[in-house]
Amino acid sequence: MAKNKTVDQKNVGGSESSIAVHWQEEKYLYASPGFIGQANLTDETIFERFSLDNFPDYFTEYADLLTWYKGWDTVLDTSDAPCWKWFKGGLINASYNCIDRHLKDNKNKTAIHYVPEPENEKIEHITYQELYVRVNEFTALLRDSAGLKRGDRVTIHMPMSAELPITMLACARLGVIHSVVFGGFSASACADRIIDSNSRVLITMDSYYRSGTLLNHKKSADEAVEIAKKGGQTVDTVLVWERYPGKYSSETPIVKGRDCIVNEELTKYYGVRVEPEKMLAEDPLFLMYTSGTTGKPKGCQHGTGGYLSYVAGTAKYIQDIHPEDVYWCMADIGWITGHSYIVYGPLSLGASTVIYEGVPTYPDAGRSWRIAQELDVNIFHTAPTAIRALRKIGPDEPAKYNYNFKHMTTVGEPIEPEVWKWYHKVVGKGKAVVVDTWWQTETGGFLCSTVPALQPMKPGSAGPAVPGIHPVIYDEDGNDIPAGAGKAGNICISNPWPGGFQTIWGDRDRFVTNYYTRYCKDPNSKDWRDWPYLTGDAAMQAEDGYYRILGRIDDVINVSGHRLGTKELESAALTVGEVAEAAVVPVAHEIKGKEPDLYVALKPGIAATEELAKKISDAICNKIGKIAKPRKVWLVPDMPKTRSGKIMRRVLAAISNKGDVGNVMTLANPEIVDAIKRQVQK
Ligand code: WTA
Repeated sequence: MAKNKTVDQKNVGGSESSIAVHWQEEKYLYASPGFIGQANLTDETIFERFSLDNFPDYFTEYADLLTWYKGWDTVLDTSDAPCWKWFKGGLINASYNCIDRHLKDNKNKTAIHYVPEPENEKIEHITYQELYVRVNEFTALLRDSAGLKRGDRVTIHMPMSAELPITMLACARLGVIHSVVFGGFSASACADRIIDSNSRVLITMDSYYRSGTLLNHKKSADEAVEIAKKGGQTVDTVLVWERYPGKYSSETPIVKGRDCIVNEELTKYYGVRVEPEKMLAEDPLFLMYTSGTTGKPKGCQHGTGGYLSYVAGTAKYIQDIHPEDVYWCMADIGWITGHSYIVYGPLSLGASTVIYEGVPTYPDAGRSWRIAQELDVNIFHTAPTAIRALRKIGPDEPAKYNYNFKHMTTVGEPIEPEVWKWYHKVVGKGKAVVVDTWWQTETGGFLCSTVPALQPMKPGSAGPAVPGIHPVIYDEDGNDIPAGAGKAGNICISNPWPGGFQTIWGDRDRFVTNYYTRYCKDPNSKDWRDWPYLTGDAAMQAEDGYYRILGRIDDVINVSGHRLGTKELESAALTVGEVAEAAVVPVAHEIKGKEPDLYVALKPGIAATEELAKKISDAICNKIGKIAKPRKVWLVPDMPKTRSGKIMRRVLAAISNKGDVGNVMTLANPEIVDAIKRQVQK
């Protein structure tokens, strides 16, 4: 096994990876015989079956987990490389697979446990039969009241609620492409996504609870519609779910002729059933916007048959979900984790999935463990940022509650071995197996993780690639960096897989340029071997084949597991008239992993004041959302720049993190570095 070698960061570059945390290689830990005895995947031949010699046919094992109206003719069609088409010729519906097919044996089983944040409100247990009824009725409403049809896009800006997956599954039933925007995102961020996807219908909820306060959410919908209109996209219909059915709970009034209260409108559709549309495997199921290197968020387009096969397969074999399990993923459905591993994965397997409305630490550090105890959750899934927060405020809380996890997932950012060990020992009570899953919005499902019954855990490492994924780490010149070299590089995936996104909505060129051009061997090739997928992460591989992910190589900061584009923050800062230049860098943070620090140079003659700093910070919260709030806005006299005028974010990142700024003598204005240092590090 690789010793603690120093990472050669020079080849990687980029602000995030250059301040990545480096920790020692850890010892293996093994799953218990009890876990292995019941696991879905204990057959070691999986790795041989899923070797490249058998590509792409091995992925039919995942597709066979689903119910198809018509089987595929071609497993992988590469004729439009690198826009891969999986299971071409197959016909399928995602809503049918997540609901209808479970009715025969399991209609009385709970599909969704919805837990409201206030503890005095009753938990809702929705059976598969009830989910079927509610999804059908809402599908009829979408079709007949909102006039939606196959291929249309709809923007959904909803909080964590049972109605959110109901809405998504109704869209899927009709073949409508849903674009869910994280509920905590601002109206402006929602509007950008409405415009980009040309949605004429917005689906929202009047209010929801967060940290004990009932927030007025409908207000954002009105603002988003206004902003979208200015941007050229008219929303003619806003569907508003009620947080308390029958009781409209927002101070923002209903707009006549445009808004429709769903809970009232639904009475027209009682008892109506809608046949699921038979979708082509490659028809888009949803868009999920994510941050990238340039300011504009990109709409990752996920297909139906390939995506659903991949999330069903990975949920079954990596998360070990059985139909009898109660599974709780704490992520928000507004992110890819929620789509794949709260909604589509667990429900396609017929499990019970938990949806919690609020904050895991509200009203106290024991809340999460009370929920786990109450619902007898046995598979748990969260992110390092939540684990750090729970560990900080309630390190001894889990022991006070009687729940039994067999399996726990972590996702979203590297997890420090210390935090991993607390998760395993205290949250998992030393009994649950832990998988650290590395993947992305673009990839639809897991890329690296241990197979829990077959491969030991190693704190701080995501693990080897999951079956069927074949990564390669390239240096800047495209040479492979072998396992155990002690060097980091750009991790790429050498083969397509069914969960991978199909394109960026409306921007195929950007899709190809951002993800495939870097290491493409021949741009005219129709052979998948010529198109390695660039993940945008730096990684190194130990001798045992386990990957350690070091962070982004592009301009993305991972705050509490949420991807924020530095350019998005910078352009929000530049909307403030007084700002001349803005630069965002990541700063290490105990709970959040990273926080953005914002450096601003003001226009000539403008005085640096506390009020102005606050105005800039507020502008970012308004434009993007509170999750993007900078740790600090530093109003500096000038930016450190290269002679060609490029802002040296690396130097600013070093100052913010109290690190070594390196040689700055080649800068156009080296003297500014000390001035900024004095200001920031005082
Ligand atoms: C980071 C979330 C280390 C990585 C599913 C990736 C991780 C980005 C891990 C994607 C992990 C995700 N260990 N880093 N287990 N999981 N990341 O699109 O930098 O929100 O590229 O998808 O998060 O974030 P996204």
